Amino acid sequence: MGEFITMEMVEEAAGAVRRQLTTSPRVGMILGSGLNALAEAVEAEAVIPYADIPHFARSTVEGHVGRIVAGQLEGQAVFVMQGRVHAYEGYSMGQATLPVRVMQVLGVQVLLVTNAAGGLNPSFRAGDVMVIRDHINLPGMTGRNPLRGPNLDHFGPRFPDMSQPYDPDLRAIARDVATEAGVPVREGVYVCLSGPSFETPAEIHFLRVIGADAVGMSTAPEVVVARHGGMRVLGLSGISNVALSGGEHHGETTHEEVLEAGRLLVPRMEVIIRGVLRRL
Ligand code: HPA
Repeated sequence: MGEFITMEMVEEAAGAVRRQLTTSPRVGMILGSGLNALAEAVEAEAVIPYADIPHFARSTVEGHVGRIVAGQLEGQAVFVMQGRVHAYEGYSMGQATLPVRVMQVLGVQVLLVTNAAGGLNPSFRAGDVMVIRDHINLPGMTGRNPLRGPNLDHFGPRFPDMSQPYDPDLRAIARDVATEAGVPVREGVYVCLSGPSFETPAEIHFLRVIGADAVGMSTAPEVVVARHGGMRVLGLSGISNVALSGGEHHGETTHEEVLEAGRLLVPRMEVIIRGVLRRL
């Protein structure tokens, strides 16, 4: 497959999905590492493996199931990506963000993205939920922007505005819901790296200096594509480990640690997501 996604590819993928849907989804969700269990909360009306959708990439990472779960959650028609694909698996940024294009063609207006992230802000603890206020898309800034290539005018302009990537109203709702439920919640800047290696101490120091509170390997490309198509976005990072550069660091970061913290984070995320859906 070429590097760039075409409108024909988006339409073929969306057509295959639409045939299996009984309602048109309004809210899209992308579930990150260790957070795939959130899809179990959905009253499923259709379950579609990525393998059955033309042009869809397969998720190869443990903890990413690789299917769409469409159905009802808190009275909303939701469209859930149970597991995401990342560019580090060998896909282009266009392929990795194709699901967001499919959502847009299907009429999804609100995107809820979740991820597991390393905490850079020294006040963060594993198990905290961070509402993403803004992001730094390092791969995008250095040439791997998902919008590289011919612009898909159907969705948005060549040079899309990014002054408000994460919707202020949705962020306020998420904070309120979390506070009411007694879930510890933070707000901050998410930095996206290409991965798959975790950060060196010097890289962690650099990321802190440039203003990031949490670090991960996803989300920002999806949000760029979402905003290009005019979706409202809420991003939640589950802090699965603390990535500190100084002597405080407790040791290595492992994928197992990320998945384990996910088990703690799933109920907290679920409370917030359910509350946000109720208030949409
Ligand atoms: N670094 C990068 N990505 C991550 C981390 C981390 O510490 N934790 C979860 N995803």
